[in-house]
Amino acid sequence: MNKVTVIGAGNVGATVANVLAHKDFLKEVVLIDIKGEMAQGKALDSWQQAPIDYYSTKMIGTDNYEFTADSDIVVITAGLPRKPGMSRDDLISTNAGIVNSVTENILKYSKNPILIVVSNPLDVMTYAAYKMSGFSSQRVIGMAGILDTARYRAFLASALDVSPKDIQALLMGGHGDSMVPLPRFTTVSGIPVTELLDEATLNAIIERTKYGGGELVKLMGTSAWYAPGAAAAQMVEAIVKDEKRIFPCCVNLNGEYGLKDVFVGVPVKLGKEGVSQIIDLKLTSSEMEMLNASADEVRSMMAVYDGLGKS
Ligand code: NAI
Ligand code: 2OP
Repeated sequence: MNKVTVIGAGNVGATVANVLAHKDFLKEVVLIDIKGEMAQGKALDSWQQAPIDYYSTKMIGTDNYEFTADSDIVVITAGLPRKPGMSRDDLISTNAGIVNSVTENILKYSKNPILIVVSNPLDVMTYAAYKMSGFSSQRVIGMAGILDTARYRAFLASALDVSPKDIQALLMGGHGDSMVPLPRFTTVSGIPVTELLDEATLNAIIERTKYGGGELVKLMGTSAWYAPGAAAAQMVEAIVKDEKRIFPCCVNLNGEYGLKDVFVGVPVKLGKEGVSQIIDLKLTSSEMEMLNASADEVRSMMAVYDGLGKS
């Protein structure tokens, strides 16, 4: 595996491409956008950073899908970002049209790439790419859990005044306000977080995590890109290097957690096949209740997608 295409050269897509270039394990990154010259400019800028930051990854920016031929992985970030006051759900119809058309274009030139979806609303856009591509669910994966968990870990690191490196945590569910951070699976270098933080502080951090995307939209007038871009690049790295890393990712469930035919975030093993295993944990009844509520929310958005063009 040595070629990755990133679709959408906006804030998140350009960041994914730039982070991948810095990691220096790919031969080529192709950055595609309907704004072809902008994609070309960002790829050129990134290539001109290579002599300074020392990497050899070739960068191509274009609006021409012929350059994407034989991509091993395609990261889809094309779509509108959430603006202040706009919910992720408002984006379904516009971004579904975009995700469907870019998936169709990709399939003209690459036979069986692994698709990593970033566009929002994340869980339903992953479903859209899955439906449009006809790929096995192992090969269509949504990025949200790594980002949401990173936010949770960063908030915990600040509250505890420790390095974010030492916070291990798990978060499940959809990429929305119903996401489910799990204190029972949160540790600080092996120490249960509940030994270090009181319940009220922990709950406040969990609430802040749930609205972490919205907090940044409010501050910046558009959604985040550094952490989202790094998160998608980390998924690419795990797949290309066949690292078999365990990350929370959005995948189609087939009975795990008692859920079927719904795209939500759960811990998975990522390697060269894409998702090689879904880790099916035994949750407590209250954790399961929260996961079910989140899955119901995603199902209702999937139903909106299924109904598009029918009325
Ligand atoms: P942006 O507006 O900076 O970039 C989007 C890019 O997509 C634009 O350059 C636009 O020209 C391009 N685009 C639109 N239609 C296209 C098409 N048909 N083909 C190719 N390119 C097309 O937006 P940003 O901030 O990069 O966000 C991108 C998406 O990622 C949004 O939907 C956003 O909500 C989502 N997002 C998801 C996160 C997650 O955790 N899953 C985190 C952050 C953002
Ligand atoms: C985020 O969580 C809006 O999904 C985007 O930053």
